[in-house]
Amino acid sequence: MTEKKFEKLTAVKGMNDILPPESARWEWLEEKVRGLMARYAYRNIRTPIVEHTPLFVRGLGEVTDVVEKEMYSFEDRLNGEALTLRPENTAGVVRAVAEHSMLYDGGKRLYYMGPMFRHERPQRGRYRQFHQIGAEALGFPGPEVDAELILLAHHLWQALALKDVRLELNSLGQPPERQAHRVALIAYLEAHADQLDEDAKRRLHSNPLRILDTKNPAMKALVAGAPRLLDYLGEASLAHLNALRAILDANGVTYTINPRLVRGLDYYNLTVFEFITDSLGSQGTLCAGGRYDDLIAQIGGKAAPAVGWAFGVERVLELLKEQASIPEPLPWVYAIVPDAQAMPQVMRALNEVRRAGVSVQMHAGSADAWGSMKSQFKKADASGAQWALIFGADEMARGELTLKALRDGVGAQSTLPLTSLAAWASGLSPAAASPA
Ligand code: HAM
Repeated sequence: MTEKKFEKLTAVKGMNDILPPESARWEWLEEKVRGLMARYAYRNIRTPIVEHTPLFVRGLGEVTDVVEKEMYSFEDRLNGEALTLRPENTAGVVRAVAEHSMLYDGGKRLYYMGPMFRHERPQRGRYRQFHQIGAEALGFPGPEVDAELILLAHHLWQALALKDVRLELNSLGQPPERQAHRVALIAYLEAHADQLDEDAKRRLHSNPLRILDTKNPAMKALVAGAPRLLDYLGEASLAHLNALRAILDANGVTYTINPRLVRGLDYYNLTVFEFITDSLGSQGTLCAGGRYDDLIAQIGGKAAPAVGWAFGVERVLELLKEQASIPEPLPWVYAIVPDAQAMPQVMRALNEVRRAGVSVQMHAGSADAWGSMKSQFKKADASGAQWALIFGADEMARGELTLKALRDGVGAQSTLPLTSLAAWASGLSPAAASPA
């Protein structure tokens, strides 16, 4: 009989497995975020990963990079619907808020965590499946909520002890202001048509504002001399920006005004901002957002103002890796079991330790052997546990077990009645407590 050999399957390019111990760092970050969101009274929302394609086409803008070339779109084989894996989650949140009339009794503060999909060229900090944590405040028109969101993000960077993060801020004004600026900008760019690169020529009449965001060094000087949107803002837009600035100033949040900050998605108006680091190379934007007062109406909901941001989890964790160490969750206790026959009784005992709030890793047999005491002690040591519980047959027959410290200074070796195990576990130091 010949054994059939299967081709080894791998993950899709640009889509990563997140494995232990790395996954512990993700959980740690997520816990920090949950705690902070609660302090600012933001509540969790979970929307589907797949949405109808027109939500993104209409919501993000037809001539954005994301819609033009990065979406994973497909036709549902069974009913022909045009569907897309979400490339971001502001549009999905807005759809859910409108669909469930969530604003009927006032504004809502929401946050989400989850995977997003963009068909980009993978590189450090840029993946095809990546993860965002985002916060959105819907139904609030005032600059105080823009400020609240920026303070929340700022608070998070502090809680994570992130360094080298700066804030850039701009206002995109309102549509009529952008229209007046657009006319002036196109006239300026047309007057310098010989200096435009291919990308700029293509965008000149579809999305000229994005030309200001060019990464092409040859165009920097041209862009620097272009008409500034800030100079086209009316009184109300300027007042919004200045009120936001006053709150940030009063809270010691430093920022620079970047008149060329335009964002890659089309739904923004008034406030836009980015938190940027120079420590991660070319993918240095950690967190980005702004106001999107027209988006809800644009996807067919009842008009309502809104503002939000999202940060890239991979990028924040990458920066954390460079700057801080995150404790790995290790078992506190390792159960050594010389004889497999004892397992029913041992596992009943371990249940009590776990119910007392202490984490236990138990010995398990392998395919060809149960495992000698020596090999079990080796594994106990490698697990990082503080204590070994030894369930020897003789002791068990007497209703006892042996406690042995695996690290210096943890405690002396002793024998314990099995009936006292729960009390022993409850009496361990608070450091032994494992979240339920
Ligand atoms: P965005 O600027 O497209 O905005 O993405 C926000 C953040 O997600 C980026 O700053 C970056 O950290 C991360 N990110 C984006 N693409 C990738 C990728 N391919 N690989 C790794 N990380 C990535 C939005 O998505 C808006 N929905 C933000 C928002 C929320 N605006 C208002 N509310």
